[in-house]
Amino acid sequence: MSTKELQEKLVANMERWQKVEDTAVKTTEDIANKTNNPVVKHVMKIIKRDSEMHKLTQQLIIDTLQGTYTMTPDELADVWGSIEKHIETELQTIELAKEAKAYLKDKKMTVQEYLVEYLLVDEEKHNALLEQLATIKKGMYPYGS
Ligand SMILES: [Fe+2]
Ligand SMILES: [Fe+2]
Repeated sequence: MSTKELQEKLVANMERWQKVEDTAVKTTEDIANKTNNPVVKHVMKIIKRDSEMHKLTQQLIIDTLQGTYTMTPDELADVWGSIEKHIETELQTIELAKEAKAYLKDKKMTVQEYLVEYLLVDEEKHNALLEQLATIKKGMYPYGS
């Protein structure tokens, strides 16, 4: 496959995906409006917001494929100190989530356990996102840092 063909295939994939995210936004909204249950309402809100962010992420992928976007080491270096500080914050949230999870173990507090588990997975996801960015940054520097 040529680079051009690959770019076209990826863009088409992202555009199809964005349509599916639109459906997700709509159905989660519909479900939230249909129920008075605060947990279901909240879960629908989470998925709706995530779907909106996914659509923007797919758009960013499209934009980078269609333009001449490159991430430079300097751009990352400029904010890296702040990002490292933020990683500390993420680690604190993971610790708190794990502590809460431990309190809830075998207490049959299903709803709280469910919501804490969501938070834990999400905080770990934030951390992973930044760890992967650190890996990209390392790859950009000849001696790592
Ligand atoms: Fe999604
Ligand atoms: Fe977080």
